[in-house]
Amino acid sequence: MSEIRVSRATLLSGKISVPGDKSISHRAAMLAALADGPCEITGFLPSEDCLSTLRAMEALGARVEYLDADSEIPDDDDFLPTQIRIHGTGMELSAPETAIDCGNSGTTMRLLSGILAAQPFTSVLTGDASLSVRPMGRVIEPLEKMGASIEASPEGTPPLTIRGNPDIESISYPLPVASAQVKSAVLLAGLFAEGTTTVIEPSTTRDHTERMLDLFRVKTEREAGAISIQGKQILRAQSVFVPGDISSAAFWLVAAAAQSGSKLTVHGVGLNPTRNGILKVLAMMGCDLTETIQSLDHGEPFGDIAIKGCALQGVEIGGDMIANVIDELPVLAVAGALAQGTTVIRDAAELRVKETDRIAAVAGNLRAFGVDVKEAPDGMTIHGGSRLKGATVESFGDHRIAMAFAIAGLHADGETVIKNSECVATSYPNFEMQLKKFQSHHIHDYQGLAE
Ligand code: S3P
Repeated sequence: MSEIRVSRATLLSGKISVPGDKSISHRAAMLAALADGPCEITGFLPSEDCLSTLRAMEALGARVEYLDADSEIPDDDDFLPTQIRIHGTGMELSAPETAIDCGNSGTTMRLLSGILAAQPFTSVLTGDASLSVRPMGRVIEPLEKMGASIEASPEGTPPLTIRGNPDIESISYPLPVASAQVKSAVLLAGLFAEGTTTVIEPSTTRDHTERMLDLFRVKTEREAGAISIQGKQILRAQSVFVPGDISSAAFWLVAAAAQSGSKLTVHGVGLNPTRNGILKVLAMMGCDLTETIQSLDHGEPFGDIAIKGCALQGVEIGGDMIANVIDELPVLAVAGALAQGTTVIRDAAELRVKETDRIAAVAGNLRAFGVDVKEAPDGMTIHGGSRLKGATVESFGDHRIAMAFAIAGLHADGETVIKNSECVATSYPNFEMQLKKFQSHHIHDYQGLAE
């Protein structure tokens, strides 16, 4: 069991790069494995979650080459592949020999379910203790309507036994919850169906799947709240560039935002408008920040974010904004605790079914830091502005909880200890190394995974 120890930082300024985007890396690995030839992926996030997807695609017949290693499959636990070549199967996946272990990754399990629902074979998807209690009914329902048969526990949780149907049918499906994972599962199943599959969203969720399908020359149609895909299109092999993950940048942005006088630039980070809500929230809290879009290479806008610390003000976060900041809410709650006044998070009941119950975990940990916080079924109210007291807190095995409270520790009196911190490798393998540099203000031009 590892732990992160952190204490107050003096100057949170400099330049930083973050590793590749998790959502985009998952999709790159899956679509490349379906494409009609070899695809090079640069900037792939070598985190546990994305490696689960990569191993799954290998188990389904795609060959993977690790371009930043000399050997074929590097036999080294510390090896972090960021540049890979996936040899696509031309939509001809093979039956896996054993159950596919999705680890902690909801994205792997839900998106893959969409692909497997249309295969001429049966697959079993398993996960770790956290994933094994997460709701899968939300993908089972539409995929069964399309003609697959999926067995889960009576509560609708993993393991999933997916009996694929190669004659899967197209569907028009209004999503009961705003979920990019469910939307993507249905669109990926729709790729194998005759006719047009349409997904109707209650509010806009991240559109990486649609953008990457476009990149692979699969046409999707998007109009107000609905995304359609015509089935039986061929994915043309592409090279994919994965920008830095704004959800990882969020930790440093909040760290710098909460310190008057700090100046931080995050380089080469994804600035997709369905993901950059954190910047709008920090601006509402009073921060001075600028986004500079460098390029829209490979279908995803990316560039630099420059932020200046300030005296943060409380903010209300709810409604249609929630899907755009869903993964950043734990660290935004920490920002709320460091802000003057009250911060309210509402309409975010989805947080209760993430890697852990993030509402309970955030509220409990904030209280340990001496913060006055009231939990609601769909969010919380945080009375900010008092000095944080360093504390020993649990990660609850949830990477974003571990990292959010390490950031709280940078602004707290005394020492903060994050227990069971190994989970940060789920999305951010070199987080602790960057945290140390940050804390000792040696982050000037610190390059993501390159050092
Ligand atoms: C993700 C979508 C979100 C997010 C998760 C990654 C994705 O989940 O919380 O970390 O890559 O599609 P939901 O779509 O279920 O809200």
